[in-house]
Amino acid sequence: MMSSSSEVDQSTDIIVDHLLKVFANQYQSNIGRLVVRAPGRVNLIGDHTDYNEGFVLPMTIDLDVYAVLRKRSDQEIHLFSVNYGESLDYMLTQRPPVRSGHWMSYVTGAVEELRRRGLLRTGLDLLIYGDVPTGAGLSSSAALEVAVVFGVNRLFDLGLGAVETALLCQTVEHRYAGVECGIMDQFASRLGRTKHALFLDCRSLEYEHVPLPLEEAGLALVIADSGVTRMLADSKYSERQKECHQIVDVMKRLDSGIMSLRDVTIDLLKQARGSLDQTLENRARHVVTENARVVNARDALLAGDFNAFGDRMNESHQSLRDLFEVSSAELDLLVETAQDCDGVLGARMTGGGFGGATINLVERDAVSGLIRALRSTYRRQVGREPRIYVLKQNHETEVLNEDP
Ligand code: GLA
Repeated sequence: MMSSSSEVDQSTDIIVDHLLKVFANQYQSNIGRLVVRAPGRVNLIGDHTDYNEGFVLPMTIDLDVYAVLRKRSDQEIHLFSVNYGESLDYMLTQRPPVRSGHWMSYVTGAVEELRRRGLLRTGLDLLIYGDVPTGAGLSSSAALEVAVVFGVNRLFDLGLGAVETALLCQTVEHRYAGVECGIMDQFASRLGRTKHALFLDCRSLEYEHVPLPLEEAGLALVIADSGVTRMLADSKYSERQKECHQIVDVMKRLDSGIMSLRDVTIDLLKQARGSLDQTLENRARHVVTENARVVNARDALLAGDFNAFGDRMNESHQSLRDLFEVSSAELDLLVETAQDCDGVLGARMTGGGFGGATINLVERDAVSGLIRALRSTYRRQVGREPRIYVLKQNHETEVLNEDP
C-alpha cells in the first residue's frame, strides 16, 4: 500500500503542504479539511503472545499513514490514494466492490464499520498517503485503519476513546481484511507515544508507556526489512493460532481455570508432558517464556539496563525460530549477522514472521558498521540488499492540520 520513500528525510510540513495541494486538486478545494497521521509500529519484544492474551512491548515508528478528510453533505464516499494514484467513489450505503487485502479494503472497511455502528451517516472526501513499507511487518494496514478511524472520530466528534478506536480497527482487520490478528498493531499505532515503548497486557488491555531514552543512552534502533513479504504468512499465522487453541483445550483438562496460554506456566507444561506432542509443547513453551521475557524486558528498560533488554531480544529470536518456527532463512541471516557485529545489544525478527523485518538495538557509534555488515552479507547470500531504517523520533497518532 505504501511507497518506500522513507530513507529521504522529508519533514512533516512539506508532506502536509503537498497533501493539501493534492487534496485541493482532487476535490476542488481543501476548505474544511482535517489532516491526521497514524504511525506504523515495530515490536521490540513479545511476538505471537497478543492472541494468547499475553504481553507485548511494541513502539511506534517514524513511518506513517496520513489521511486528509472532509465531511460531505451527501452520502458519497470519495477516496484517493496519493501513492497509487487510484480513486474510488461510492455511496455510503453501498458495499464497495473492493478485493480483501487491497489497500482500499482497509479504508472502505473502516468506513463501513463506522457506518454499521451508526457513527457515520454522511459522506466523506478522503485522501490517503503513506510511507510505511507494505509487507515488511511494520503494520502499514493498522496505521491505515487507525488514520481513517481517528480522523473520522475527530471530524464528526464521535467521542470514541483511544482503546475503543484500536478495538474498532482490529474488527476492521478481522471482518474486512480477513486477518484474525491480535490487538497489538492497532493498539500500538493508536496509543503509542513518542520516545516511549508501549507495554500492553493483551488480556486486560491495561497499558503503560515505558520511557525509551535511546538518544540519552547513546543507542539506536535499526530495522532491517528482508524484502520477503508475508505471502504464506496469513495461513501460517492462523495455523499457529489453531495450535495455540489446541494446547489450551488439552491444558484445560489439567486445570479448568485455564482460559488461554496466558494462564499456562512452565510447571503446568511439565505436567502436560505426554498429552502434547513435541510441536505443541514447543509452541506453548515459546508463548510462556516469551511472556516472561516481555515482563523482564520492560523491567530492564525501567532500570535502564539495555544489555539485559538486548539479551531478552536475542532469546526471543531463538524461541521464535526454534520453538514457534515463524522465522525464515533471510530473517535468521539478518539476525545472526547483527548479533556478530560489535556494539549490537540485541537482534530479533519482529512481528508475525515468515518474512518482514528484524529489529536491532545497537550503540549509536556502531550503526554504520551494522548497516554495512547487513548489506554486504545479505547481498552476498540473498542477492539483494535489505531495506534499512534507522528509527529517529518515533511518532504518535495526531492531528496535523485543521481548517478552520
Ligand atoms: C501480526 C499480528 C499481530 C501479532 C503479530 C505477532 O503482526 O497482526 O496481532 O499477532 O503478528 O506478534
